Amino acid sequence: MSQVAVRPQVVSAGRAGAQVRAARVCGLGAYVPEQVLTNRDLEQMVDTSDEWIVSHTGISQRHIARDDQACSDLAAEAASMALARSGIPRDQIELILVATVTPDHSFPATACYVQDKLGLPQCACFDVGTGCTGFIYGLAIGGAFVAAGLHDYVLVMAAETLSKVTDWEDRSTCVLFGDGAGAAVLGPTEPGDGLLAYHMVTDGSVADLLQLPAGGSRQPITPDALQRREQYIRMAGHDVFKLAVRGIPEVALAALDKAGLVPEDVDLLVMHQANQRIIDAAAKRFDLPPEKVVCNVDRYGNTSAASIPIALAEAEEDGRLQRGSIVLMVGFGAGFSLGACVVRW
Ligand code: ACO
Repeated sequence: MSQVAVRPQVVSAGRAGAQVRAARVCGLGAYVPEQVLTNRDLEQMVDTSDEWIVSHTGISQRHIARDDQACSDLAAEAASMALARSGIPRDQIELILVATVTPDHSFPATACYVQDKLGLPQCACFDVGTGCTGFIYGLAIGGAFVAAGLHDYVLVMAAETLSKVTDWEDRSTCVLFGDGAGAAVLGPTEPGDGLLAYHMVTDGSVADLLQLPAGGSRQPITPDALQRREQYIRMAGHDVFKLAVRGIPEVALAALDKAGLVPEDVDLLVMHQANQRIIDAAAKRFDLPPEKVVCNVDRYGNTSAASIPIALAEAEEDGRLQRGSIVLMVGFGAGFSLGACVVRW
């Protein structure tokens, strides 16, 4: 059984201030369910149009999980691919994280179900609930364990089944979301390679702008809550939009600065895929040409925490993500949280 094994020489070197090792992504995977819901389909469900959805969001279609597919099912698919691509044997995984706001259950953690499905070792398993910024948090946490020498190989997943908490009668939100999962296997590397820097901030004073009102201790699921449809996502979309556009450059520049880099050094920008207009605003702010900006929101919609690793996996498949590339990832979402991560791939 794998435990948190403190390796004294590494930890004491860390305390002295000299970084002795870093973490890198050694394998990526992604999965989206087969069923596709197009804007034309949505026109039959709510008062909306393909023209409105495309012009306001850039989304044309999204993938929707089957009734019998839960978050851990999607996560396990993505993780299987990431593990195969990494070449790391399953018995070497020492920590398992799932970033999600749509877990299989409130408890136990979805990571526990993935561990069982994939036959992974009995190691530490937990979930990270930081909304659409979840994959950045997962990389930061998993990367810190690797860099500190506490674990060698960590499995970080981000998986969402937002369709299960979407109000399919609310046109202001139901056109936005999709289901999917991404995964990364983290392992050790030399300082200066791999995960270089993060910057994460949260403003809890505006936490209610984006929430699932019922199902927690503030508002358990009661007949009255169900009557008010509080079991579904509520979002003040316009306010979220403004916070995102304002906050993205701040966290991105802070993370680049910590890495000793500037926007001109960025080879690939991988933003949370929520809205094409938000991605375009960030690309313009950093003066990045289209070939350096990964966009797939048109095909998947907003898959929350899963959107960044799905985009990374696609960029790797189409050859834009190369060993040595400087990758800037930026996420934002519930909290209101913002996070950026800089990687030498
Ligand atoms: N079809 C047609 N009309 C619609 C629709 C729709 N699906 N939804 C809203 N409208 C209408 C509104 O009723 C409103 O009409 P009115 O002017 O008559 O009142 C009009 O369109 C404009 O509505 P806004 O909400 O102001 O539209 P906006 O341009 O802000 O676009 C959107 C809405 C797409 C939600 C945008 O605000 C947005 O992308 N926000 C950010 C969301 C986000 O990024 N979330 C990410 C974090 S959350 C997460 O990832 C889980």
